[in-house]
Amino acid sequence: MNSHPQPHAAILDIKPYIGGEAKAEAARLHRLASNENPLGPSPKAMEAYKALAPDLHRYPDGSSHALREAIGSVFDLPMDRIVCGAGSDELLGLLIRSYAGPGDEVIHSRHGFLMYPIQTRLAGAQPVSAPEADLKTDPKAIIGAITPATKVIVLANPNNPTGSFLTAAELRNLHAHIPSHVLLILDSAYAEYADHPDYDAGVSLVNEFSNVVMTRTFSKIYGLAALRLGWAYAPDHVVDVLNRARDPFNVNAAAIAAGIAAVRDAEHVARSVEVNNRMRPWLARQMEQMGYRTYPSLGNFLLVSFPPHNAEDVRLFLKARGVLVRQMGAYGLADCLRITIGDEADMQAVVDGVRAFQIENPAE
Ligand SMILES: Cc1ncc(COP(=O)(O)O)c(C=O)c1O
Repeated sequence: MNSHPQPHAAILDIKPYIGGEAKAEAARLHRLASNENPLGPSPKAMEAYKALAPDLHRYPDGSSHALREAIGSVFDLPMDRIVCGAGSDELLGLLIRSYAGPGDEVIHSRHGFLMYPIQTRLAGAQPVSAPEADLKTDPKAIIGAITPATKVIVLANPNNPTGSFLTAAELRNLHAHIPSHVLLILDSAYAEYADHPDYDAGVSLVNEFSNVVMTRTFSKIYGLAALRLGWAYAPDHVVDVLNRARDPFNVNAAAIAAGIAAVRDAEHVARSVEVNNRMRPWLARQMEQMGYRTYPSLGNFLLVSFPPHNAEDVRLFLKARGVLVRQMGAYGLADCLRITIGDEADMQAVVDGVRAFQIENPAE
């Protein structure tokens, strides 16, 4: 007999999510393991955060009204169709748990964000991994994975950790093959960085169809990862479900205050995009010149394949120099490392580190 309470069986199938490393013994740290904004938060968001201190005894506004109003005005969306959450992780979990349960299937792309299978198992549902073509979401494989048990399809666009994306036309075509009772979640966490004419974060699909939801985050370009803030744009009936399922005060007051200032600071966003657009191709070129394959990315990160070298050896070498990048074994990409795009000093430290590694470890 088990002598203590037992969770439902699927919980023990979950491999806990391991975040990026944030510490190393080095004089200067380059934290490039969690896709955070190297410019930090908007100065206006920091001010708003500090100004909140005397009101910390007050409950937050449980409807995040002012924040939804600000998001709605910046993105030109009706605020009644926006729901805020404690990170987009919370919203993704609420959506998956609300629409899928035991006996149901949730489809994700083979190298989709790791939280999708975790949240699916937590719901008691079965994650279904659709194969990819050259590390890119394959719409045909997603469609082929649909069964009568499918309740949700969740895709990151652009995808973390691969950086690849589906164009607006590819997404629309994929959606046309998805039954109307299946919820399509478009996780557009990196949308603000996705500076490409063929990219669409999903607003028009949400507007047109009753089975599409878009999620967004303040953890990436807005530099507010510590506060845990995200939002969803959804049809009315999904908004209703999220508002029933979420905690009454799921978004804290500091996140609301800082989020309003951050989303309105267009200049900080533009500067962040500019740094990313300049440093990402620069890093990719340097890596290619050193003989490594890189994958095209629309995000604030680059996936680099390290053969003939061992990616873990490279990662540990970089770590010893204070350069923290993300190992990819949990994604089945143990040959690769994911490097967040930082500022000039960060990127130079990566390149100098990899060069020093090559000198010490010449390829056979
Ligand atoms: C694709 C994707 N979705 C969602 C998240 C979670 O973001 P949040 O901090 O808003 O929970 C991340 C964070 O790395 C991500 O890469």
